[in-house]
Amino acid sequence: MAHYRSVGAIPPKRHTQHRDADGALYYEELMGEEGFSSDSSLLYHRGVPSALVDSRVWELADQTRTPNHPLKARHLKLHSLETGTCPVEGRRLVLGNNDVRISYVVTGGQSSPLYRNAIGDECVYVEAGTGTVESVFGVVTYRAGDYVVIPRATTHRWVPESESRLYAIEANSHIHPPKRYLSRFGQFLEHAPYCERDLHGPSSPYVVEGENVDVLVKHRTSAGIVGTRMTYATHPFDVVGWDGCLYPYTFNIDDFMPITGKIHQPPPVHRVFEGWNFVICNFLPRKVDYHELSIPVPYYHSNVDSDEVMFYVGGDYEARKGSGINLGSISLHPGGYAHGPQPSAIEASLGADYFDESAVMVDTFAPLELGEGGLAVEDPAYAWTWAGRGPDDGDDPAVFSNS
Ligand SMILES: [Fe+2]
Repeated sequence: MAHYRSVGAIPPKRHTQHRDADGALYYEELMGEEGFSSDSSLLYHRGVPSALVDSRVWELADQTRTPNHPLKARHLKLHSLETGTCPVEGRRLVLGNNDVRISYVVTGGQSSPLYRNAIGDECVYVEAGTGTVESVFGVVTYRAGDYVVIPRATTHRWVPESESRLYAIEANSHIHPPKRYLSRFGQFLEHAPYCERDLHGPSSPYVVEGENVDVLVKHRTSAGIVGTRMTYATHPFDVVGWDGCLYPYTFNIDDFMPITGKIHQPPPVHRVFEGWNFVICNFLPRKVDYHELSIPVPYYHSNVDSDEVMFYVGGDYEARKGSGINLGSISLHPGGYAHGPQPSAIEASLGADYFDESAVMVDTFAPLELGEGGLAVEDPAYAWTWAGRGPDDGDDPAVFSNS
């Protein structure tokens, strides 16, 4: 999706001879979406990009999904989730459906293997930590608050500089800015809450020497999501130049300029990305509604057509005491019933002019199921917190300002 970039050495005319200093031809590769009918980039390799020498099974982490049945809201405490330390192989599945999967990992300081997702784009929200992502396109740095958007089939490696908390949104489709933010030719429009200046892609080639190099490939069969370990004759990071509109990039949540209003603005104004059958929004510190009779917290709402996942990543959640929601929590408010603030939160919000809170929301248009990681850290009492009592004795009611 992103915008045209040209990095490193490319020939002046595409599909023409491009040679190194010794006269050897580079191998041109088109990475293109939707066949040859959408965004693409042309990459120039020193080696043959299809030169495989081995292909073996890569055993993925548990991808089991459990339906949300009987239907209820869920609270998953990600900061209690023990994960592996590999940024790729250590991910544990929290929620998922046939369109998108959300996993979570707390890395160590070690790099991941080379990896690519052949199912769809990944949008990895960096809850904490710093590091880089190396790829065939070059290197991008990441820091807390970044979304790292990695196009489908991009060979890459995570290189944490410090422990990193990664919230991986893996799509079965492409992930891109909302179309309504873009002109008919793809430029960000004036009303968009961010623009091209906020997207950070690789700026120089990244070449690594090597032979017999393994790449972990996540892909699909009729049996579901599987993995293959492919071994390449030469290192895939051998691109001396590329150009096009397809490449990994980062966008930091602080560069999203929240849109506010005289009365409560609905979640679509907070949208940051969208994929097939899901959207990603972020709720950020902002001034709130300024009508003299405004109610800053939202009205109750039924997700008639969607499941709603909030990941609470920053700010002061004192107002949510009693619900158990805290930093690192996920709430799942599924379609099929209404949710919203606890009544005392409505009164408490009157007169507020600023909310200091950050959350990343994924709304899906197909029901989400619970991954094994999600089930492992569920607070089973959450669904009863609005009523203040459940099948047993229940807890205090929940308070939500945004979701
Ligand atoms: Fe909501």
